Amino acid sequence: MSIQHNDQTHVFSLTTAHTLYQMKADANGVLLHLYYGRKTDGEMSYLIRMTDRGFSGNPYEMRGSRGYSLDTLPQEYSGSGVGDFRLPSVQTVSENGSRSVDLRFVDFAIRKGRPALRGLPFAREAEDTETLTVTLRDSVIGLDVQLNYRVFPGEDVIVRSARIINTGKQPLRLEKAASACVDFLYGDFDVLHFHGRHCMERVPERLRLPRGIASFGSRRGMSSHHSNPFVILCDRHATENAGDCYGCMLMYSGNHLEEMEVDQAGSTRLVSGIHPDGFSWTLAPGEAFQTPEVLLSYSADGLNGLSRHYHDMIRRRVIAPRWQEDRRPVLINSWEAAYFDFDAEKILRFGRAAKDMGIEMLVLDDGWFGKRNDDNSGLGDWVVNESKLGCSMKELSDRIHEMGLQFGLWFEPEMVSEDSDLYRAHPDWALADPDRKAMLARNQWVLDMSRQDVVDYLFDAMCAVLDHAKIEYVKWDFNRSVANCYSHALPADRQGEVAHRFMLGTYQLLERLLARYPDLIIEGCSGGGGRFDAGMLYYCPQIWCSDDTDAIERLEIQRGTSYGYPVSAMGSHVSASPNHQTGRAVPLDTRGIVAQSGTFGYELNPGKLSDAEKEEIKKQIADYRRFAALIAHGDYYRLTELNDGRDAEAWMFAARDGSEALVNLVLTHVRANGPFPFVKLQGLIPDAAYRLEGTDRTYTGAALMYGGFSFPLKSGDYAAYQLHFTRI
Ligand code: DGJ
Repeated sequence: MSIQHNDQTHVFSLTTAHTLYQMKADANGVLLHLYYGRKTDGEMSYLIRMTDRGFSGNPYEMRGSRGYSLDTLPQEYSGSGVGDFRLPSVQTVSENGSRSVDLRFVDFAIRKGRPALRGLPFAREAEDTETLTVTLRDSVIGLDVQLNYRVFPGEDVIVRSARIINTGKQPLRLEKAASACVDFLYGDFDVLHFHGRHCMERVPERLRLPRGIASFGSRRGMSSHHSNPFVILCDRHATENAGDCYGCMLMYSGNHLEEMEVDQAGSTRLVSGIHPDGFSWTLAPGEAFQTPEVLLSYSADGLNGLSRHYHDMIRRRVIAPRWQEDRRPVLINSWEAAYFDFDAEKILRFGRAAKDMGIEMLVLDDGWFGKRNDDNSGLGDWVVNESKLGCSMKELSDRIHEMGLQFGLWFEPEMVSEDSDLYRAHPDWALADPDRKAMLARNQWVLDMSRQDVVDYLFDAMCAVLDHAKIEYVKWDFNRSVANCYSHALPADRQGEVAHRFMLGTYQLLERLLARYPDLIIEGCSGGGGRFDAGMLYYCPQIWCSDDTDAIERLEIQRGTSYGYPVSAMGSHVSASPNHQTGRAVPLDTRGIVAQSGTFGYELNPGKLSDAEKEEIKKQIADYRRFAALIAHGDYYRLTELNDGRDAEAWMFAARDGSEALVNLVLTHVRANGPFPFVKLQGLIPDAAYRLEGTDRTYTGAALMYGGFSFPLKSGDYAAYQLHFTRI
């Protein structure tokens, strides 16, 4: 039993393999957060102390106890306007204009299975997953909040969400609906958040939490390149391998906000959910609003330990079961090979060369449909441009399959070009404020995915292409931020719902396509990694990590991504050198080693490769096949500390049974007469012996982990090392 309730004390204990999450409904019905962290025994309520803090008032019924204040007690889901002056979790406006929410415990239920999330992605339950639902109520305004806690013991993850129900007789306007709130009474935390930009996503930044509020989020209608919906709070002294770390990952691909407040007494509140800016949702009597899920985890084993929890969780409970075990095909993508300039013959030439090197799938990127020879037109017209191709999509796909390759195709479903038949037929299907020309980005507009007719059109249009030709893979792109988020299908007072309804429309379209094509791989993409989040990963087993394919830049991008997401989800390709984004020249073996720590593929014109390069690529692919299971399912460790000033980036994969390990190191700065690159390995069995492939040398796990391993010096820019150790 991972969830326990004590009838006498009303303490709820949620237990995973290594953690305890505890809360208590007190005598006033306030649901107090008691503890989250390393597993302990017994009740942790002794941690709560009360004192009369000036300007922190008392609920009316506690007027005799001046130490009892909602402003200082740790709570599971904060209300608003009734004396807790810290971050609210929920905000409403009643018909009479009141904005106060005071939530008190009503009852609870513990059950197997999960709450219905209606159209949202969710963590897939395991055999032992239990759900606790605690109902809080504000009987004055007629509001119930059902807090759901789903416990994943094996992954050390607790999944939270909230269902907010109007139980009154009047409409209620919701203005904030967080998925979770966690109060840490004690602790001196750093926050790690993941900022970025197009072509440099998920850059980790570690900051000491200031007094007051720190927040990160996106109002771009997408989880964004600029701020990933994932934060880590860690002990100020935590390293990659030691120290307390808490993760909070929102399973959502739209606007989001992660807020942290350090209060007057040094306690920290963390609130995560849909961004309240621009959000409002009208609940008629009896109606409910469901928030997305948040994946919470704690590790005492530093940032690497926390990352491994999320990697396991995403690999087992987020990615569709269809793709959890299967190795994804090694693919070649046409984008950097040809951009918009191709016909079927050129694509077939790519295919023949790719097949000779051992590549397994060819993906035709942007430009095959409508009128689309640059990025100024055609989006929305998902009709094959046969005159450009010189044949039908079926003929092209058949010829690719005859070569022994699988075939994939690019779409950007949620967008429309002004110069398109779709826009000319349905101008009201684009998001745009009345009487105002909407912002253009990449010369395109955003379709109103909150409309069922738009979703239905896209479903039919995509099915027509997918039914016509044999297509095993779709690259699902999204190339701009959402502005002018106004739907012509909703009344004025419901425009605050559009951004979330947009996401529900997108999720519905993904869901319907996957129901119809269960073997289709949909690779998420958003100008690279602008929607790299657990919400998209529920539908897409892999996401194109970045439009920056420079292997040296990718070291940073993939490292940053690895804090929350497994490498088996990271789309990563070997591209041409000099690189198209940076102009940097990087050796082919280094490019291979970096791309290998991902779903692996190629993004170059094979016709421009020398014979020697083709031979090297054959070997790269053969190596990848040998290591693919270890890379996809092994434990991943970052071997270099964040920003440690060294001239190398190193990481490794260790088989969970200790049978083998793959160590990678890339020199980011070569120096004359420099120090030997050096790392300490992780995840080996101390007293087991390991042989280094290609040598007769053996080492004990203890030697490699505690003594470490030093590498010979190499000259030349961006050299890489790869070591494979096998237990003997
Ligand atoms: C952005 C993607 O990230 C690229 O890989 C490519 O598909 C282009 N869009 C095509 O327009």
